[in-house]
Amino acid sequence: MANRSLAKDHADTCVLVTGGAGFIGSHTVVELLARGYRVVVVDDLSNSSETALERVRTIAGLAPDDNRLVFYEDSILDRDALSRVFDAHDIDAIIHFAGFKAVGESVQKPLEYYWNNVAGTLVLCDVARAHNVKNIVFSSSATVYGEPEFCPITENCPKHDATNPYGWTKSMLEQVLSDLYVGDNEWNVVLLRYFNPIGAHESGLIGEDPKGIPNNLLPYVAQVAVGKLARVGVFGDDYPTPDGTGVRDYIHVVDLARGHVAALDWMGGKVGTGEARGLGSIAGEPAEDGTRRGVGIFNLGTGTGSSVLDVIHAFERACGHKIPYEIKPRRAGDIAENYASCDKARDELGWVAEYDLDRMCADSWRWQSANPDGYATA
Ligand code: UFG
Repeated sequence: MANRSLAKDHADTCVLVTGGAGFIGSHTVVELLARGYRVVVVDDLSNSSETALERVRTIAGLAPDDNRLVFYEDSILDRDALSRVFDAHDIDAIIHFAGFKAVGESVQKPLEYYWNNVAGTLVLCDVARAHNVKNIVFSSSATVYGEPEFCPITENCPKHDATNPYGWTKSMLEQVLSDLYVGDNEWNVVLLRYFNPIGAHESGLIGEDPKGIPNNLLPYVAQVAVGKLARVGVFGDDYPTPDGTGVRDYIHVVDLARGHVAALDWMGGKVGTGEARGLGSIAGEPAEDGTRRGVGIFNLGTGTGSSVLDVIHAFERACGHKIPYEIKPRRAGDIAENYASCDKARDELGWVAEYDLDRMCADSWRWQSANPDGYATA
C-alpha cells in the first residue's frame, strides 16, 4: 500500500505530534494550527502538562471541543493505544518529539532512556507503517556531532560518538530512520538537528517548565531572575572563546517550531527546490546513485554563537535587574563552542531564524515572570 501523500491542502492534512504537550512540541502545535493543519497529540505527560495544550487552544483561538486539535494521554510504547489513534484519525505525517531528554539523568538511567526513546520510536514507526503512514519529521540534536570537527557546523560535519545515552538515542534513531528509507523508499524522513532552543511564545502562556532544578542554562538563569534560585553557576571561564565561557547557538523555540512546519511543507513539495531534493517528489522512486534522497537532514539554529555571559547579560536587559553569577569549574562533557551553519535549511526549506538573543530572553522572561512555578500554578 502506498504511503500517504502530503501534496494537499493543510486543512486536509492531519499531523500526529508525539510529545506535543512538551516545550518544543507545544510551540510546534501552535504553528501547525496557525497554518491550518489538523493536529493529533500523543503525550504521556511524563515531563509535560495538559495545561500547555489548553493554552495552545487559547493562543490558536480554538474552543475546547474544536477537533482541529485532539489529545491522547498515551505512551508511544503502548502499541494498542497508538493503533487506536491511527485507526481513529487519517494521519498523514508524524512529527516525533516524544522522548526523555536530560543528559545527566540518561547516564544514571540508560535502560530507561534506551527503552523509552529507542523502543518507543520503533513501536511508533511500526504502527505508522501498518497504517501506511511513512512521513516522519524527527527531533534530533546537534549532540550527534559530538565534539564538532569545525564551526560553523554544516550537516556534512561527521557525526561523532555521543558522550551520554541521551545523545546515543538521538544518533541511533537517526540511523534507524535512515535505514527505514533505504529498505523502503516510500518513507520520507526529515532529521532536524536542533541547537539550543530557548525563549517562549510571545503570549507568555506557554514556555519551558523543567521539573526540579534546571540542567540547562536558560531555565536556570530565568529562575535566578525570578528569585527562585540564588545565583547562576557559570561552568568554566577558561575555554578558548572570546570571554572564556562556553559558546552555543541559542534559537528561539518559535523559530524552531516554524522549522518543523517548513520541513512538512518541503516534504509535500510545497516549498524549496522540490524536484531535486524535495521528498514529496521522489516517493517510491529510489535514487540511481543509491544516495538517501528520501532522508533530509537539517540544522536548525541561528548561525550565531553566544557565550554564557552574553546570555546572562541579555537576560539582565530583559528583566531589568542584575543576575548574580559565580564562576564554577567546567562541567564534564561540555565543549567550548558549538554553532550551526543554517544555509541548507535556508536554501532548501526556505526557513531562517528571525529572533535574536534579546528577543529570546524577553519572551522567556515574560513566561517565567507570569508563571514562576510553570504550569503548576495554573
Ligand atoms: N551552563 C552554565 N551553567 C548552567 C548550565 C549551563 O554555565 O547552570 C553552560 C554550559 O556549560 C554550556 C552552556 O551553558 O556552555 C549551555 O548549556 P546547556 O546545558 O543549556 O546546553 P548544552 O549545550 O549543554 O546542551 C544542549 C541540549 C542538549 C544537547 C546539547 C548538544 O540541552 O539536549 O545541547 O547539542 F544534547
